[in-house]
Amino acid sequence: MSLDAVLARIDTDLPQATDRLMELLRIPSISTDPAYKADCDRAADWLVADLQSLGVKTEKRPTPGHPMVVGHLDGDGPHLLFYGHYDVQPVDPLELWDRDPFDPELQDTPRGRVIRARGASDDKGQLMTFVEACRAWKAVHGSLPCRLTFFLEGEEESGSPSLVPFMEENAAELKSDLALICDTGLFDSRVPAITTMLRGLLGEELTITGPDKDLHSGMYGGAAINPIRVLSRIIASLHDDTGRITIPGFYDGVPELSQELRDQWQGLGFDPDRFLGDVGLSQPAGEQGRSALEMIWSRPTCEVNGITGGYTGAGFKTVLPSKASAKISFRLVGTQDPLKIRENFRQMVQDMLPPDCAVEFSGHGAGPAGMFDTSSPPYELARQALSDEWPDEAAYIGCGGSIPIAGHFAEILGTPPMLIGFGKDDDQIHSPNEKYDLESFHKGIRSWARILAALS
Ligand code: BES
Ligand code: ZN
Repeated sequence: MSLDAVLARIDTDLPQATDRLMELLRIPSISTDPAYKADCDRAADWLVADLQSLGVKTEKRPTPGHPMVVGHLDGDGPHLLFYGHYDVQPVDPLELWDRDPFDPELQDTPRGRVIRARGASDDKGQLMTFVEACRAWKAVHGSLPCRLTFFLEGEEESGSPSLVPFMEENAAELKSDLALICDTGLFDSRVPAITTMLRGLLGEELTITGPDKDLHSGMYGGAAINPIRVLSRIIASLHDDTGRITIPGFYDGVPELSQELRDQWQGLGFDPDRFLGDVGLSQPAGEQGRSALEMIWSRPTCEVNGITGGYTGAGFKTVLPSKASAKISFRLVGTQDPLKIRENFRQMVQDMLPPDCAVEFSGHGAGPAGMFDTSSPPYELARQALSDEWPDEAAYIGCGGSIPIAGHFAEILGTPPMLIGFGKDDDQIHSPNEKYDLESFHKGIRSWARILAALS
């Protein structure tokens, strides 16, 4: 079947494809905030209708959280599963957005034309690259060159709590030859990539309580313990002066990079000054003696994502607070065991608590790191197909982010995953003014058409 005709169709249909993406972007499907539950449902409905219009037998399937969208399309050739997520991150701080995050717009910028909206890159724009490639293929040839299962989730940004039970219950239906995941990035604007390593993630929230009510900091200050000071001391002690994490046993299972991978990454020509310079920084701030690329791709981290406590409103209030909280996430590599780290972290905090203080913990997801074997034939075929579309040859790269599902495909379904995406470092995912380059969208669709041809 001719690939050229499909590519030509993709080019002429780009304005319509962009309009369809804009429709999906108008739905504020923020999974972590219960206020947007109905919107998550609406995004799932939109996808069901869109896939059905392609002849994919699609259903919205309930879970205890947000629904899954599962669709099947018969065809000859290998059985491919496609995964993406329709949920998005919260938009705050809203005042830093230049426009309504759910009123998408095409904009011209010094670095090219972009689609600006929450979810434009992570992950609605990316997931639609695959859907649009299928649409073009179907329009030109009447059928696809493979059998397809779509598996779209609405809880990725909140740790995918319903995913494992759903996959276990529906394993026979979801099992396929290869799982394509479109939720990662290019290496840079010329170099497409297949991501072969993802970091794992452990989320922990802790609340420290001291006095049983907020106090006047003049009347009690000095005599009463202040939970914000206790929390600060605990947080400050999580790293030593060389940037290493101090939780007992934390580095168990953290491997050193193989020489082969070190050489391969060296060959990518990553520019740390540019990477940091693009966000107003100049110095890598992780473990001493490690390169910036190692810090983001192959070393574990402990980061405080938020702190609350006391008076944070306008003006000044001399309060000695009763409580202080922090949200802390750990990125994990190698075979680090998230549950063991959770246990050791909680014990370390307990051991540091002064008299009269208590701590409560709540966990937010715990998933190990993923490493994907590139030696199977589909990897080389897909890499070649990507190289045919982009200016430079495709690279195998690492990724500092986490995609909880990636490890589960192999573990639960016995289906190997392959991670291909077209996001860029400056897409501002999870931040104000998120965007997706129109070029990422367009060439992303074309890339999938080529990959479908190559894999079948
Ligand atoms: N698409 C991202 C993962 C990602 C991040 C890929 C950076 C490439 C570069 C994904 O949607 C994401 O943000 N995942 C969360 C997972 C979490 C909320 C459970 C993450 O990594 O923080
Ligand atoms: Zn994502």
